[in-house]
Amino acid sequence: MGKHITKAVIPAAGLGTRFLPATKALPKEMLPVVDKPAIQYVVEEAVMAGLNDVLVITGRNKHALANHFDRVTELEATLESKGDGHKLRMVNEATGLADMHYVRQGDPRGLGHAVLRARMHVGDQAFAVMLGDDLIDAKDDLLSRMLTVAEDREVTVIALMEVDPSVIHLYGVASIEPTDEEGLVRVTGLVEKPSAADAPSNYAIIGRYVLQPEVFDVLENTPPGKGDEIQLTDALQTLATDTSIAGGVYGVVFTGRRFDTGDKLSYIQAIIQLASERDDLGPDLRPWLKEFAKGL
Ligand code: UTP
Repeated sequence: MGKHITKAVIPAAGLGTRFLPATKALPKEMLPVVDKPAIQYVVEEAVMAGLNDVLVITGRNKHALANHFDRVTELEATLESKGDGHKLRMVNEATGLADMHYVRQGDPRGLGHAVLRARMHVGDQAFAVMLGDDLIDAKDDLLSRMLTVAEDREVTVIALMEVDPSVIHLYGVASIEPTDEEGLVRVTGLVEKPSAADAPSNYAIIGRYVLQPEVFDVLENTPPGKGDEIQLTDALQTLATDTSIAGGVYGVVFTGRRFDTGDKLSYIQAIIQLASERDDLGPDLRPWLKEFAKGL
């Protein structure tokens, strides 16, 4: 059994071009989902799974991210003097959440390149990679299950989700074999953003990974792929086909709810669904939504 995993890496240095102009001066991971930036949900998920050390890979708009997880003493003092304990707690929630670290990517040369920037911080340990624009429902223990598989088997673990063939070209896609564990598959190959005709299955990679430290050497030797970017999927393909490097790749099949907040439609759906389930907003929002839908 491998060592206990404690570190999460959140790449947040992408250009977020699908969300321009909102992402011109703000990382897409900072866009609010109801009243919290998307990345805060992801950090909360990491902490829930026992990963208290979080490294964010930042791009040119680093300050908004770092400021969010830092203290804002003037704001705290104002809320305190007004006796607004509720808002003060909300502000402080992000501050004490995890042990936060930041490193710059420089040029955004792809997700694989962003992960490589974590090498110094992570060292010789397994670690999680969590995409900051991918929200996984808090009711699901996807990450905990992935960590257990990675620790017990000392392998690489990815999260897979069955998607419709019409959207398969937007994802990395896995060839899989069943294992004797329910919801756990062995990944025999991976391809980044294939056409529906070339896709080896309808199992798409979603934004949670547990990687072994050998991935860094593989990434160093991975040439730019699709979009002329260093693709994490290409490095995972090497790890899946050469099991002598780090024990091979396994996939945990996710059947819960997930939102891609880097995509406009999914972002809007996330806000509506999460807000309608909240005690403070749901009772007013749900009847309004029903009325609104009647007029469509
Ligand atoms: P995406 O492909 O979704 O991000 O990358 P993007 O390039 O910012 O998005 P669009 O297509 O232009 O709108 C997946 C994740 O990898 C990070 C992104 O921040 C996102 O969380 N990423 C991507 C990096 O950190 N660095 C990169 O060079 C590329």
